[in-house]
Amino acid sequence: MLDWSETKNEIRVGDHPVADATGLGEIERGAARVSVSDKRMINARADVNQLLPLKYRWAWEKYLAACNNHWMPTEVSMQADIALWKSRDGLTEDERRMIKRNLGFFAASESLVANNIVLAIYRHLTNPECRQYLLRQAFEEAIHTHTFQYIVESLGLDEGELFNMYREVPSITDKAAWALRHTKNLDDPDFRTGTTESDQDFLRDLVAFYVIFEGMWFYTGFAQILSLGRRNKMVGIAEQYQYILRDESIHLNFGIDVINQIRVENPHLWTQAFQEEVRGMIAEAAELEAAYGRDTMPRGFLGLNADLCEQYMHFIANRRCSQLGLRAVFAETENPFPWMSEAMDLKKEKNFFETRVIEYQSGGALSWD
Ligand SMILES: [Fe+2]
Ligand SMILES: [Fe+2]
Repeated sequence: MLDWSETKNEIRVGDHPVADATGLGEIERGAARVSVSDKRMINARADVNQLLPLKYRWAWEKYLAACNNHWMPTEVSMQADIALWKSRDGLTEDERRMIKRNLGFFAASESLVANNIVLAIYRHLTNPECRQYLLRQAFEEAIHTHTFQYIVESLGLDEGELFNMYREVPSITDKAAWALRHTKNLDDPDFRTGTTESDQDFLRDLVAFYVIFEGMWFYTGFAQILSLGRRNKMVGIAEQYQYILRDESIHLNFGIDVINQIRVENPHLWTQAFQEEVRGMIAEAAELEAAYGRDTMPRGFLGLNADLCEQYMHFIANRRCSQLGLRAVFAETENPFPWMSEAMDLKKEKNFFETRVIEYQSGGALSWD
């Protein structure tokens, strides 16, 4: 039984108050200390302002891993890219079209993902260690948006053309509009979790953004630019995409862990019908991505074309299903881009990060104190 209480931030399940989801409500003076057993992913009874005691170590570990991977786009030289972009015949018209649409897709998508975290997810994920990761992720999305600003500025691209592309190019608009449908409910200021229906709405949003937007659609985009990099073209952007890919693979895995943890704690939400719905979302998203592939690569390039990208999306879609404990949505298929796994393994770049961290510590970055 669930009643809405007088204060908007609090709901009750039976006689038990569900903790203030925002953490900004009235302080309960003298309340008992937080018990790990009261901590929950959603609808928690524990104070959301207390990180410790930790319950979900996987969330904390991801926060630490993300901090260890810190990078800034401006640390990557764009000289080779600028020379190639300005050269008359270094890139074909098809390559230019693909690069621009790819940048246009990411430029707006990073903001959509960031806004969804901050304005929709954060409020309803009632666990402090997950929120700690979300705060870090939000900063990383800002760094990713910064990357596209830096690329536009470096190459002298038309900023309006790139940043407005998600409203002008139908294959990009279709994807953004599809994902935003799932944020819409959560955007309602009166939306609260706590019923089966609203908790499932929250899960739909997590699937749409973590599993599909960041976990499927970004991956074709990475493959497009990294395949150019493998042919020694636009190597600066390709390096930046490698760092973004590393961040995004943690975002994706965080999202999968969040969904699976909510499932464990709330098995009544993960009905057969709901599982079929999620499989349908994943299949539909792969179709939208195939359309984007045909639009951005009408003729294809060496080792990369719309058909291979569609196959890659089927491979990725099946992988996402298995991560969520769902039956595959497509026939079993091989990964047509095995080199993408190498791109994700950035151990060889470790020195780059270690060096940079030391420079920050010994350099002028802390000169204000
Ligand atoms: Fe991002
Ligand atoms: Fe992300």
